[in-house]
Amino acid sequence: MAKEKTLYSCNECGGTSPKWLGKCPHCNAWNSLVEIVAESTAPAKNRFAALAKTAEVATLADIEASDVDRTPTGQDELDRVLGGGIVEGGVVLIGGDPGIGKSTLLLQALDSMQRAGQKTLSAAGPSQGARAPSGGRELHGVSERGGTLYVTGEESGAQVALRARRLGLDGSQVQVLAEIQLEKILATLDVQKPAIAVIDSIQTVYSEQLTSAPGSVAQVRECAAHLTRAAKASGTAIVLVGHVTKEGALAGPRVLEHMVDTVLYFEGDTHSSFRLIRAIKNRFGAVNEIGVFAMTEKGLKGVSNPSAIFLSQHAEPVPGSCVMVTLEGTRPMLVEIQALVDNGGPSPRRLSVGLDRDRLAMLLAVLHRHAGVACLDQDVFVNAVGGVRISEPAADLAVMLAITSSLRGRALPKGFLAFGEVGLAGEVRPAPRGQERLKEAAKLGFSVAVVPKANAPKKAIEGLTIHAVERVEEALQVLRTLD
Ligand SMILES: Nc1ncnc2c1ncn2[C@@H]1O[C@H](COP(=O)(O)OP(=O)(O)OP(=O)(O)O)[C@@H](O)[C@H]1O
Ligand SMILES: [Mg+2]
Repeated sequence: MAKEKTLYSCNECGGTSPKWLGKCPHCNAWNSLVEIVAESTAPAKNRFAALAKTAEVATLADIEASDVDRTPTGQDELDRVLGGGIVEGGVVLIGGDPGIGKSTLLLQALDSMQRAGQKTLSAAGPSQGARAPSGGRELHGVSERGGTLYVTGEESGAQVALRARRLGLDGSQVQVLAEIQLEKILATLDVQKPAIAVIDSIQTVYSEQLTSAPGSVAQVRECAAHLTRAAKASGTAIVLVGHVTKEGALAGPRVLEHMVDTVLYFEGDTHSSFRLIRAIKNRFGAVNEIGVFAMTEKGLKGVSNPSAIFLSQHAEPVPGSCVMVTLEGTRPMLVEIQALVDNGGPSPRRLSVGLDRDRLAMLLAVLHRHAGVACLDQDVFVNAVGGVRISEPAADLAVMLAITSSLRGRALPKGFLAFGEVGLAGEVRPAPRGQERLKEAAKLGFSVAVVPKANAPKKAIEGLTIHAVERVEEALQVLRTLD
């Protein structure tokens, strides 16, 4: 392929320059020029005339709206976040900390898709195997097209094979390509026409059209754009693995997230074996579902009933611990919130793991002002057990009760839980779908709950004593009566 000319374009004003400059000559912005491939310079008028003939305009009503075809990945928890499976021609970006298990998960998913495709093929004969139902769901694509492709830029083929052996994927028919040059990858995709291809990772891929290094903003943008276009044109689903920066955001340009159909984050505490996968954006499904996995020697195993995995096991209740029920997507999960309040120095520290730190500062202020619990000269640490990250405000009440419990050195009673959002005026606001949360807690043997008044169930829940409160001070009052 002839090398195309490159230009440098300003991220701020869009102005171009034939060579890289520290300062944009058009808008004077610093360090904003990135390399791009120069577009064809044919006279605009002729180009428009030619293009207008090829472009088709249709009314919305005339366009057939077929339901998106999804191929299950064979990993139920991954399917849950994807909204049911991989969509033909869809592009998924998956990011996560180093070593969290991205390559493991995708290799497992590719292998089960490949196996499911082959089973369909052998069950129904090669001519019509593509649409044979399997387990009540339609499996298609994988068998009818060129199977599955794993493009690895970070590891050699041998290393991938070694991982496959460890995961027990013996005799796997997943095709592996150890390549980092975009043009070669695109050519392979074109020839093989796989149903799904994984690019591990987008930061290692480079296009020879650009001179910048792999992983640079220009390369990542250019490569992702080409791969996305290839996916849409050929119907191959593409999964891009993305690195994350020190701050935890996906590395590379933000525009990458706009380009793809689905953005997933793989998160979890590397010290615990549980991993969560969360959708940040999904053009083909809801974004509030999470998938839960446990990392084992044999790879990632889906946890279909995760409600109790984030509880730590105490023989007897300990001060500073309060359990809450969080609702992730459609599944309620019980999570233990721990707090430690200790004498601090002249500038006491407020630290939180898995919870929002600004919200912690706010809750401490509310606790002081409305309930008379002062931690002004104390260090306050709070933690959501098990590496889970809780963003919903329904954790507020549990955080406050855990802090109070630690400050007083008194444990909350056995089988106690609380949830509810707390406002700046000290009011306790309801959490969505309170009934479901309470039922899950009762199922797991919890016996006392402090909940917002609006969440109090009309019909008693067996085994659960419910204290409905409207204000923070009422919640603390309830604690005193339980002591
Ligand atoms: N023998 C083993 N037993 C249990 N767990 C293992 C074993 N070998 C590897 N692991 C787990 O697999 C993880 C590595 O997974 P993987 O290589 O898929 O991560 P990754 O997200 O692709 O990382 P990177 O960003 O470096 O590519 C390790 O952190 C470890 O937790
Ligand atoms: Mg990897």
